[in-house]
Amino acid sequence: MSRVETLLKQMTLAEKLGQLTMTASSYAVTGPVIAGDSTEAIKDGTIGNLLNMVGAEHVHDMQRLAMEHSRLKIPLLIGLDVIHGHRTLFPIPLGEAALFEPKLWALTAQESAKEAAADGLAMTFAPMLDVSRDPRWGRSAEGPGEDPWLGARIAEAKVHGFQGTDLAGAETLAAVAKHYCAYGAVTAGREYASVDISERTLHEVHLPAFAAAVAAGVVAVMPAFTDLAGVPMTANVALLRGWLREHLGFQGVIISDYNAIAELIHHGIAADLPHAASLALKAGVDIDMMADAYRRGLPDALERGWVTMAQIDTAVRRVLTLKERLGLFEDPYRRGATPEAPAAVTARRQLARLVGARAIVMLKNQNAVLPLAADGLRVAVIGPLGDSSSDMRGPWWGAADPAGHVTVVEGMTHLLGAERVLHAPGVAIDDADMSGVPAALELCAQVDAILLCVGEAAAMSGEAASRAHLGLPGRQREFAVAVFERARALHKPVIVVLFSGRPLVVPWLVESADAVLAAWFPGSEAGNAIGDVLLGHVSPSGRTPVSWPRAAGQVPIFFGQRPGGRPENPKDHYTSKYLDVANEPLFPFGHGLTYGRFSYANLRVPEGPVSATETLVIRVDVSNQGERAAEETVFLFTHDVLASVSRPVLELKGFAKVTLNPGESGTVSLLLPVAELRFLGPTLELEFEAGEVEILVGPCADRRQLLVASIRLAHA
Ligand code: BGC
Repeated sequence: MSRVETLLKQMTLAEKLGQLTMTASSYAVTGPVIAGDSTEAIKDGTIGNLLNMVGAEHVHDMQRLAMEHSRLKIPLLIGLDVIHGHRTLFPIPLGEAALFEPKLWALTAQESAKEAAADGLAMTFAPMLDVSRDPRWGRSAEGPGEDPWLGARIAEAKVHGFQGTDLAGAETLAAVAKHYCAYGAVTAGREYASVDISERTLHEVHLPAFAAAVAAGVVAVMPAFTDLAGVPMTANVALLRGWLREHLGFQGVIISDYNAIAELIHHGIAADLPHAASLALKAGVDIDMMADAYRRGLPDALERGWVTMAQIDTAVRRVLTLKERLGLFEDPYRRGATPEAPAAVTARRQLARLVGARAIVMLKNQNAVLPLAADGLRVAVIGPLGDSSSDMRGPWWGAADPAGHVTVVEGMTHLLGAERVLHAPGVAIDDADMSGVPAALELCAQVDAILLCVGEAAAMSGEAASRAHLGLPGRQREFAVAVFERARALHKPVIVVLFSGRPLVVPWLVESADAVLAAWFPGSEAGNAIGDVLLGHVSPSGRTPVSWPRAAGQVPIFFGQRPGGRPENPKDHYTSKYLDVANEPLFPFGHGLTYGRFSYANLRVPEGPVSATETLVIRVDVSNQGERAAEETVFLFTHDVLASVSRPVLELKGFAKVTLNPGESGTVSLLLPVAELRFLGPTLELEFEAGEVEILVGPCADRRQLLVASIRLAHA
């Protein structure tokens, strides 16, 4: 008999429920303080999984409680939110999405896994795959941006990166695809609010990234806190048991979100804890994170006949199988056995610097003010985010210290020397005190360029951080206006470095600045990465993974809209538009300037009818007509012109990167499997319809900047 079945035969109900329970260790920097009576419970085998532990020594101490004291010696599964780095932080996920670079997406996950595994951990609650088209929602910072196809590519890269090729290895983590699903569509962008979207949008927009994660072999999935059209995801039989397990064939572990099982009572679908526990178990949730509903509720539920022992056993089997696949039974101390070599840590910091720089999106660069010539350059780093190490981390920081994350002041000091970098914060991120403004304005006269570092505090995005106003918080706007005025009088350029977990609605700022870098929250090497771009050591290549709104009233905003029956026509009043603002975003999805200047020509698509089984090669010539070497990101969109269901005006189907020297041209090839042109027909069945499909290639999701050609799909 297999190990799992042998164990299952010997387990008491309490031990089984222990394997279905994950509880916080209340880790404090000084050491683990296990909440309540968990230490005894681990020894009794009635708590089988932990979250929020940091440090291999502590993790191993906990593991020893299970291995040396518990009757069945089942190792603990210990996880943490390693979202964009563990101790070394990479840019926030929304920033990483801007890379459009699957290899780097995978590499940062792999490096995070190594670092976290070296701390003894075996699971990360990542990747977060919630497509979001609403920047009011703070958690859009944690996700892949607005596009489902992009989300799917990120999903597979992250799963491969975290889980590697050997899940039992000392350097890999179990990944958890979360939050399943459609959490990004919370009503009005308000955190934890109800979600109510069409079945089509669910399948076309919110599920593809999860399907990709499952196809990539993700071993666990976390349901969202939210309800979908009245059915909370934690108890959603149709989507958990049905779509995820039966349709996709997912056999891994479903782990609830924090206290989510007990919250079924607040949702108004469970009367008490036994009821809540039975709903979750029956929907297929295996591990109860933090609600303690399975331990406290399932014995009653069993007695009342609401659940069966067979259902409990199925969940236990899945948890034990995962522990086995992670190699925990062979050696529960393998992860964290060997401290990392200092060279590995240094190399990781270099990667963080590179990725931090490549995630920056240069939104504007008037008169090629950037890159700045370093020779003799003096800069004033002003604004509340110029020297705030802890904010560089963004909203999830794993086990990273608050300090030690390079600020813009520090980065510029490394690059130019202390005597050439002046600094004053001017105002705080979010308070009314303007007394620091004169000192900051004073600096403007003493330098060649002003780096205005403004934006959100790290804690203003992420979980429970929805915002209805999407501008600069506090008095930053007044401060920035004063800086622009002073700089204009002095003829000094102002380069805005914008820190945020979402696209901020700041058209006035973009208008006044000479250049704007959207830096997101770049992570541990923030200041160095920003300095690299400012001085041209790195040619910016990031592209915004979300349409950047010009007004909060445009939200939700995304490029994949349907044409509607009265598409916008400025000459016709009765068409789809606003009276007071343009339809277009301030910057389209995919926008991002480089230090080159690229032009596109000669889009080549196959002639004659193409069939569903083919993979097409689409070619386009790109040339760099600028004065510096640079990297261009080329996007491939499609548009199904005539179909049984109205199709979005643009659908992302590919991207590629090309680096070209000044004056150099190259041909970029993009692959398009024709099967990707199938879509959900009127009855939501996947269909392939013959006819014309437009192929659009270019630098971003602005139709006016795209080359267009057509292919013809043959009858299947
Ligand atoms: C979040 C999850 C996270 C969990 C554990 C919850 O509040 O929604 O994303 O994985 O906490 O920290």
